[in-house]
Amino acid sequence: MHRAPACRSVSGNSGGGVNSILDFSRAKRAGRPITLLTAYDALHARLLAAAPVDAILVGDSVAMVVHGHDTTVHATLEMMRLHTAAVRRGAPEAFVIADLPFLTTRQGRRAATQAAGVLLQAGANAVKVEGLAGHADVITHLVTSGIPVMGHLGLTPQAVHQLGGHRVQAGQPAAAQRLLAEAAELERLGAFAVVLECIPAALAQRVTRALRIPTIGIGAGAGTDGQVLVLTDLLGLDPAFRPKFARRYADGAGAVTRSVRRYVRDVRAGRFPARKEAMA
Ligand code: KIV
Repeated sequence: MHRAPACRSVSGNSGGGVNSILDFSRAKRAGRPITLLTAYDALHARLLAAAPVDAILVGDSVAMVVHGHDTTVHATLEMMRLHTAAVRRGAPEAFVIADLPFLTTRQGRRAATQAAGVLLQAGANAVKVEGLAGHADVITHLVTSGIPVMGHLGLTPQAVHQLGGHRVQAGQPAAAQRLLAEAAELERLGAFAVVLECIPAALAQRVTRALRIPTIGIGAGAGTDGQVLVLTDLLGLDPAFRPKFARRYADGAGAVTRSVRRYVRDVRAGRFPARKEAMA
């Protein structure tokens, strides 16, 4: 199943510049843009770490991209644990952030803390939490338990059914004010950074200027302190998914299709394997 068009619109070192949460604020103060990409498995994590990118996000988008669901509502803690552990194995030195899956923060502090503990023990350095209203106490509890928290405001895909789809958020003045206030509250509660997804660029820039912690944008324009993309979008691996904000750096789908067709042709024509590809 394809992901719905987003924004319709829908401790270590990764080899990048981030070793710990402290480096996020340092990067902001130094005016150095922060780069994040998603990875869900060891191979891609290894490639990202070698590239390098500053940090790797094991996003709950894995439920859509890898498992074929139509929303991130289907991500489970076990799914996130398995993918986080794989990413950690592929990139032992990377700074890894893992999403707390759907409803984890709505079952109270104890459940949220246990879930975050599972992800940190699987290899994450930090967790990302969508939204704020109704679970500010949980965020405080996580932070004061020593669990680094990245916030996520704007389009929060776990709330897709409440939001009526993957669409741009905070376009109206009241919603924009609410988002500004929530971003400031996340900073006050101790979040080390906040993702801003699918909001007007001017609002993202206002939030960025108002906060000391960095903002990481996706579909939020160029005025944030960093950017995050889903790796398969950057690689152009899903021809049916072309969100406006995701620049394609490769025709991954075309490369796969062309390669597979050549392989099938070669096997059928007796050109593969060649003598040098056979065991003696
Ligand atoms: O799950 C994810 O991949 C994300 C990013 C899009 C920010 O949360």
